[in-house]
Formats: sequence, C-alpha cells, structure tokens
Amino acid sequence: MKQLFLFLTLIFSIAASDVLVCREEKFRPQIHFSVPENWANDPNGLVYYDGEYHFHYQYHPGNPNNGPKSWAHAVSTNLVIWTDLPVAIEPDHLGDIWSGSAVVDHENTTGFQQDPDIAPIVAIFTHSSSSQQQSIAYSLNKARDYVKYEGNPVLPNNIHRDFRDPKVFRYENKWVMVLAAGDRVMFYSSLDLKSWEYMSEFGADPPQGSHSGVWECPDMLEIKYNGFTYWVLLVSVSGGAHNGGSFTQYYVGLFNGREFQSSQIDTKYLEWGEDNYASVSFSNEPRGRQIIIGWMTNAIYCEQLPTGIFRGEMTLPRVLTLENVAGHLVLKTNLVEEFANLRIPSQEHPLEMRRLEPNGYWNVSEELGFKSQLVEVDLAFNIAGMKGLSALAICFLNRLRQEICVGYDHERPENQEIFVNRELTGDLRSISDHFVGRQTGGRVFKDGIITFKIVLDTTALELYVDGGLTVMTSLFFPDEPMDTLEIRHHAPVDGSEVLLLNGKIQGLRSMYDC
Ligand SMILES: *[C@@H]1O[C@H](CO)[C@@H](O)[C@H](O)[C@H]1NC(C)=O
Ligand SMILES: *[C@@H]1O[C@H](CO)[C@@H](O)[C@H](O)[C@H]1NC(C)=O
Repeated sequence: MKQLFLFLTLIFSIAASDVLVCREEKFRPQIHFSVPENWANDPNGLVYYDGEYHFHYQYHPGNPNNGPKSWAHAVSTNLVIWTDLPVAIEPDHLGDIWSGSAVVDHENTTGFQQDPDIAPIVAIFTHSSSSQQQSIAYSLNKARDYVKYEGNPVLPNNIHRDFRDPKVFRYENKWVMVLAAGDRVMFYSSLDLKSWEYMSEFGADPPQGSHSGVWECPDMLEIKYNGFTYWVLLVSVSGGAHNGGSFTQYYVGLFNGREFQSSQIDTKYLEWGEDNYASVSFSNEPRGRQIIIGWMTNAIYCEQLPTGIFRGEMTLPRVLTLENVAGHLVLKTNLVEEFANLRIPSQEHPLEMRRLEPNGYWNVSEELGFKSQLVEVDLAFNIAGMKGLSALAICFLNRLRQEICVGYDHERPENQEIFVNRELTGDLRSISDHFVGRQTGGRVFKDGIITFKIVLDTTALELYVDGGLTVMTSLFFPDEPMDTLEIRHHAPVDGSEVLLLNGKIQGLRSMYDC
C-alpha cells in the first residue's frame, strides 16, 4: 500500500512539474503565463505552500471573451514553469467569484484544519451579484479542492457600489483585509477570517495619488529598507494612465495595524507600460520576498486582443524592493532569480565596449551570428555625451522589417525620457484605436550611465531601466518572429556620443516542451 502510494505520488509530481503541453498558436507567449484557452484577467490568490507557488486568476470558462468569473488555478515550483490545474472556485447562489487573495492559516485560527500536518489554505474573494460582498473558501489538501464556507458572505454589503478585491495579510495576532471601495481603500480586521471589523480608510479624504479611475485590486507589501519596515500600498486604477487606460500606482508609508499613513500626494507608477494591471503579491513567500504578477494587458483593449482561442496572459513574476533616490523612497522592480531556469547556458553572448556611430545602425544579431525571438538583453551605456534631440534605440526586427524599439530620448523630458515604440509591429488599428504605438516613461535616476534589461517574448516585451527604477511592459503582435537585434544612435546634431560599456545577449527557452 505504501509503495503504491509512493508510486502514485511520483506520477503525480511528474505530472505536476515536468509535462507541459506544447502550445504553438501564432500569438502564444512562450515565457509568460497565459490561459490555455478562453478568457483570463486579474491574478488572484497568489500563495506559497509546501514547495508550491499557487497562481489563481479570474477566468471565464465559456469562450475567450469577458463573462461570469471563476477562479482558475496553475501551480509552479519555480515561478516560471507553470502547470495548469482544474478550476478552483466556481460561481454559486451568492454570485460570481471575483478577485481576491489567499492565505495559509498556520495557526488554525479558522478551526478548518483537520490534518495536523496540512494547514488550511483560505481564499478570500468577492462574491458578485447585485452587490459585491466578501466570502471565503478553504482547502484542506494544498489547494487541490476548495470548500466554500457555509457562513458566506463573511463581509456583507448593500451600501457600497464598488466594494471588492480583498487582499488579506497577517499583522501580529490578527488578519487584516485591504479592500477597494471606489475612490479609496478600506481596512478591516479579523481573528478568524469569518467575522470582520472596520478599522480605517485611505486615499479619498484628503485625496492622495491618482483618482482618474475606479480603484481596484489593492495590496499591502511589507518591505524593509535600511533596517526599517515600510508598507507599500499598491492600487490599480481603471483609467487615466500617462500612456492611456489602466495602470497601477503605489504609496510608500507606514502601517500600525489599524491605519495606513503616507504623506505622498503625487502619483507614483508601479510601471509605465500600457500592459500591466492588477498586480498583486504572493502570500506566505518562504523568504519574505515581495513577488508580484500582473495581468498583461490594458482595460481599454483587453477584450480585443487578436490571440484566438485564448485571451489573457500575465507579466513575469517580479520582486519589489525599496531604494532611496535623491531622498525619496521608490520601488525597484526586478526579475525573480528563478527566471534563470529559462536561460539557455550555451546561448550567452557578451558584448564588448564600443562607441555607437552617430546615425549608425548596428546589427548585433549579424555580428554575433545569433538570432532568437526569445532573449534577455542587458546593456549599459554612457550617455553623458549625447547632444540635442539625439536618441538611443534598441530594436527587435523581423524579416518583414516590422520592429519594436525601446530606448532613451535625450532632451525630451516633457515626454518623459524612456520609450517603448510598437508603432511598426503590425496593424495596431485592427486591435484597437487605443493600442498606443509609442509609450513613454519617466526616468527616476538621472545619471550619465543608463542600464537596460529587456526580456523579449514572442508577443510581449518587458523593459527594466536603471536596475528596475523605470519599468515598461508592452504587448505586440507581429506577423513574423522578431528575431534580429539592432542598436541605433539617432544623432541629428554633430558630436553626440554614446558608448556601450558592456552588454549581454542571453537566449531563453520556452516554458513548453515542443
Ligand atoms: C482546528 O480547530 C478546530 C476548532 O477548534 C478543532 O476542532 C480542530 O481539531 C483543530 N485542528 C487541529 C489540527 O488542531
Ligand atoms: C541583420 O543581419 C541578419 C543576418 O545577416 C539579417 O538576416 C538581417 O536582415 C539584418 N537585419 C537588419 C535590420 O539589417
């Protein structure tokens, strides 16, 4: 019996970690998680337990269009190779299952625990019908099956029109929920996840940060900096971003168990690209890292993406830390170290120092004899000698000469200085009038040395500038693979100088076995 059990466990663990079905649709991302088919939106219930990262997400099972939501489920041991599991939580008489979070109840505060060796995983979500109320469901077998709590909803509501996306975290000996309520977030506390008490609110009175859309999907991240504990509130805003549409803002502040306080009045962007919304973090992360994943699209055109049988894909998992730049604490975003699982060791190509010819086009792929549509590119430049309206562009091209470029615009601070330009990636208008071609982002750290990390997937690009102080994520839909790298120095006036200090082109592998 025991041997049979071991044998079955072995089969199960192989199935859960190694066998990935090949997905070869034209616009299928290969290193970003995407829904196998049908519709996906917000990440939900990101939680680590017993060697596994659980990723749930908003899912409409009927077709690749927006519709009534369930929580879908995928699992990973390394955050980059995912295995799909059956749908986790489905609609019932209380409504559809909208966004929320999940926690591990290590102390059996809920009384749900049966096996002393397996802690309950509790999902806290919005039940949406004629009103938005908060409910819970629990799993006693490591998120394989969820049971809805019979006392739902645990936080009833018939007052607030917008009252959703609960994110629950542990603070000392209680649970705290941060909830989006239209133009503010509200904080509630509980001892057992079943009964909740109002504590405070933040953001509307007085107004702080951006109010250009409805607030959604809040998160509270505890981040240490210089031995001191800060709290970062993430709030996704449904419209009005610098480049158009939805985006995520953040506040750096303090939390005392009851109230979040931040003196910040200005709007801070988690990232500037058009295609990152509703980022939330993993609960119970074993090393205390703050790892987030976002829905990689924009509220304005998410329903028009030309991806076929599936519509819904996610950003790479990212680690957030704080950094002091000129006296201000700002978020810094980087890839998780587990991303190394996607690097192909034999496809590492260093680049040496060189001066970029003014108005020169440097075909890097030709020089290296290496072409790939899945690459990670790291480049450091000295731009102190750039003059006038010069620009530095790092471009990925295909056989049809479609291109997507990222770079630095010198002397264009009014438009922000960092750009991603997908104007020439194909027919944008057929996707949406709002699928903006050229997007810009603000540089926080204005130094004569600039670094770029670019992760290029078949249909998505992630850009991390200055070690992750400026981040931009952008979808694109080319007709052929973007497999050639070219670096350009546009120099309308004489004497502009750009020096590549060092660089590396790293080939990546798909998360699927094809
Ligand atoms: C969890 O708490 C419930 C209610 O108090 C109790 O019945 C149950 O035995 C506890 N589970 C464990 C594993 O201690
Ligand atoms: C770069 O070189 C490769 C290999 O010779 C070639 O296929 C490609 O067309 C060139 N790209 C550009 C933009 O010149």
